[in-house]
Amino acid sequence: MNEFNNMEFMAKTTLYTGSGSLKFLKDAIAKYGWEGNILFVTDKGIEGAGILRKVIDSLPGIQEKSKTFNDVKPNPSVTATNAIYEKHKDDGIQNIIAVGGGSVIDTAKALAVLFTNGGSIDDYFGFDLYSNEPLPVFAVATTVGTGSEGGHATVITVDNSDLKTKQLVFGEALFPKAAILDGELLLGMPGSLVSSTGMDALTHAIEGYVSRNGSIVTDALNLHAVRVIGEAILEASSDTTNISAMNRMIQASTTTGIGMSNGGLGLVHGISHAIGAQYDAPHGIVNAILLPYVLEYNWIANPKKFADIAQALRVNTWGMSVEDAAKAGVKRVKELTNEVGIPAKLSEIGVSEDSIEILTDIAFNDELYMGANPRRATRKDIKDILTKAIGSNRSNEQLSSDKEKVAVGSAN
Ligand SMILES: [Fe+2]
Repeated sequence: MNEFNNMEFMAKTTLYTGSGSLKFLKDAIAKYGWEGNILFVTDKGIEGAGILRKVIDSLPGIQEKSKTFNDVKPNPSVTATNAIYEKHKDDGIQNIIAVGGGSVIDTAKALAVLFTNGGSIDDYFGFDLYSNEPLPVFAVATTVGTGSEGGHATVITVDNSDLKTKQLVFGEALFPKAAILDGELLLGMPGSLVSSTGMDALTHAIEGYVSRNGSIVTDALNLHAVRVIGEAILEASSDTTNISAMNRMIQASTTTGIGMSNGGLGLVHGISHAIGAQYDAPHGIVNAILLPYVLEYNWIANPKKFADIAQALRVNTWGMSVEDAAKAGVKRVKELTNEVGIPAKLSEIGVSEDSIEILTDIAFNDELYMGANPRRATRKDIKDILTKAIGSNRSNEQLSSDKEKVAVGSAN
């Protein structure tokens, strides 16, 4: 039970929320000084959408003392991160402004470590392994899923070894100094990006809420995020000019990002990081596909919490047993995944059954997620989840029926 865990809770990022909150970035940076140059880190899509320009325009006089790296790719790798560092290490950079989603913000954090410590980013996989304080990072969030803007981890794909995995650099100093959560900046973004990143946020919230490493504090953040995302994701993904829905989504994703930073995540992320590293697949979509299968496996470990999730998702659980309410919550998550247009199976995004063994090995050995997952998974459990998630071509009704059988069958 979470109330007995001895946990440290850290939330060190100043958040600026609501429409127009970009205007606060200037003062947020001023608190840390404007000495030296600033590096903007972003990607081509964000630059093309005019969001980088809006950020630069909000910072009068910044142009002369700024450099820009505008080509961050999804699933940033050791090689890519080191190359950006080599390109800009002699530019006198003293502050980093990330304008983007998870890949951009994680890249910015990794660069913050490299600029003051040198070396290669894989030297710092683990907790607080750097000697010098990383540069300050300021995050302007442009998706509704990563949570990295409020957290102290950066996820990097290991591409310089025989086995491709995702590893994390953690550090108390890696909390961005400030994060801008401005729904106005998101208006008109592709609905599919709201779906995929929003489902990543829902995954954080649910995995965080049922994590073995949570606390009452992280429960509060995660469960409320389930509620807000459940209410807003369909509105936001179907109409990305809905400013209310976009503001709710971006704030909820950061809310659970803080929860995730402190209470951890589970098997969805363990498996999805393995898939992301092996296939360079989009993180949010992989999570969204895996989520119902993992929840189906997990709910029996803590039916009460899964019943809470059902209620947060506005499932009418009146008169249901706790177990039935938990299963109804899992079913609702599956429906929501379909409603926002996420593919039903991993094979649709190119994941092959041939890789089940390697994916199982990577996920099974990732104690960060295995240890936090509410149910202790065996290799066979992970293999079964992957087999279903890759190969299922069944209707929702069949899937729901199969889910019940699997859940009951694996209760002991
Ligand atoms: Fe995630």
